[in-house]
Amino acid sequence: MTADNQTRPLKRTFSVAPMMEWTDRHCRYFHRLISQHAVLYTEMVTTGALIHGDQARFLRHNDAEHPLALQLGGSNAEELALCSRMAEDAGYNEVNLNVGCPSDRVQNNMIGACLMAHPELVAECLTAMQSRVAIPVTVKHRLGIDAMDSYEELHQFVATVSQSGCKTFIIHARKAILQGLSPKENRHIPPLNYEWVYRIKQAFPHLEILINGGIKTLDETRAHLQQVDGVMIGREAYHNPYMMAEVDTLYQPDAALPTRLQIIEQMYPYIEAELKQGCYLGHITRHLLGLFHAQPGGRQFRRYLSENAHKAGADVDVLKRAVEKVATL
Ligand SMILES: Cc1cc2nc3c(=O)[nH]c(=O)nc-3n(C[C@H](O)[C@H](O)[C@H](O)COP(=O)(O)O)c2cc1C
Repeated sequence: MTADNQTRPLKRTFSVAPMMEWTDRHCRYFHRLISQHAVLYTEMVTTGALIHGDQARFLRHNDAEHPLALQLGGSNAEELALCSRMAEDAGYNEVNLNVGCPSDRVQNNMIGACLMAHPELVAECLTAMQSRVAIPVTVKHRLGIDAMDSYEELHQFVATVSQSGCKTFIIHARKAILQGLSPKENRHIPPLNYEWVYRIKQAFPHLEILINGGIKTLDETRAHLQQVDGVMIGREAYHNPYMMAEVDTLYQPDAALPTRLQIIEQMYPYIEAELKQGCYLGHITRHLLGLFHAQPGGRQFRRYLSENAHKAGADVDVLKRAVEKVATL
């Protein structure tokens, strides 16, 4: 599966959103055990961090994670091109430019959602990135920002940016309010507007349009897929990862569904190998807390792990004991 996943063209019917502090390599390994097909995204890495920081750490991933996209934050075309090349050389299947993150910290450096006000610059960045790599370069953005909040302005943004040759647009279906709302508030206060995303697909049928924001179930996913090319889910996939168990049936109707226990048992050898390399159990198991969400014993599983995984010397037996809380109830 791994070699095949690395080389076959990306099919972005379903993807898991880039999420800072959440979609690290352990999380992605775990998600891959639930769906073989979902496209997985890294946390955003800024060009500054990648160029001047610990490149190997930022680019590190396991072969099993493919199909895998690296998300970049930045607005210097040359630096973005250089970082895209690093991503391709490291084996990533796609590079994505973040034009959706509303944090103050990133606005000061012209990173994220504030770039929606500069479509020509976004196009210039995407052109430079594409010129340096063979893997696809995609963009993730909002419906608008602040006073830029009409459908016409969104349409203009996509029209300008697509001049770069970028063919895949991931649209978080709400605007961002850059002054006055925190990044967290910007993920639920501005209202969702799926209709505008559908209209963008109708207006630009040759572009691949992925919809994101507030989507929680496979039934909702199937409904969106009637209108757009793909669905990206963030928070629900993280908090209730087993919602992804049926994702592979979107790609292959007869795909086998893994059970929760099968998934967790496949984590054991991974955890043992990581602990040997000096990783802490809690850094991996924090991503597993929601696996038994709404299941009998799920709360006990979560509590046992939360209370014990961070203790000195905690090893895979802690996870096995947490699983017993579910199995015995
Ligand atoms: C903890 C957290 C971190 C996030 N970090 C990023 C990020 O690094 N890059 C990005 O483009 N979006 C980021 N997002 C936004 C998500 O990718 C997604 O657009 C948003 O959560 C809406 O999708 P959802 O309703 O399915 O969660 C983050 C979201 C959360 C909850």
